[in-house]
Amino acid sequence: MKHSLQLPTFEKKMKMLTNRTFTMIKPDAVKNGHIGAILNDISEAGFKIIAMKYIQLNKEQAGAFYAVHKERPFYNDLIEFMTSGPIVAAILEKEGAVEDFRKLIGATDPAQADEGTIRQKYAKSIDANAVHGSDSNENAAIEGDFFFSKLERF
Ligand code: CMP
Repeated sequence: MKHSLQLPTFEKKMKMLTNRTFTMIKPDAVKNGHIGAILNDISEAGFKIIAMKYIQLNKEQAGAFYAVHKERPFYNDLIEFMTSGPIVAAILEKEGAVEDFRKLIGATDPAQADEGTIRQKYAKSIDANAVHGSDSNENAAIEGDFFFSKLERF
């Protein structure tokens, strides 16, 4: 008997992986009223929103999300900051999403970020740097899965 459920081919899965990234608009940008402007920049740059939610993380959730930084000296401050207010989490789609999104947001430290990038425009410090962007296709998939179920993606 033929299955009615179509499973994505390996090629399709790989394309999905390389075309998606994950972002958070961080508590500083939310508090400073930049959600709309940042979403507009993201949209103008050609990214499509696949999933999105407005949520405040607790310490356990933020700790799990940033577990890779657990041994870094800034870890405790990072968890404190990321739980200090609501964030906007989203999965974004565009050809070459991870690389293009990192170009759009600029360097981690806003003082080093190029003119016109999101962090240069809306961020104040390396801790309060307005947005997060995945650093690889693999992490984009892991981070997106952390926040969103299949039913929450469109
Ligand atoms: P993000 O892309 O969300 O990933 C980890 C975060 O830690 C980073 O953005 C910064 O906001 C924060 N951070 C603070 N100090 C540093 C540092 N020295 N190097 C990298 N990230 C840092």
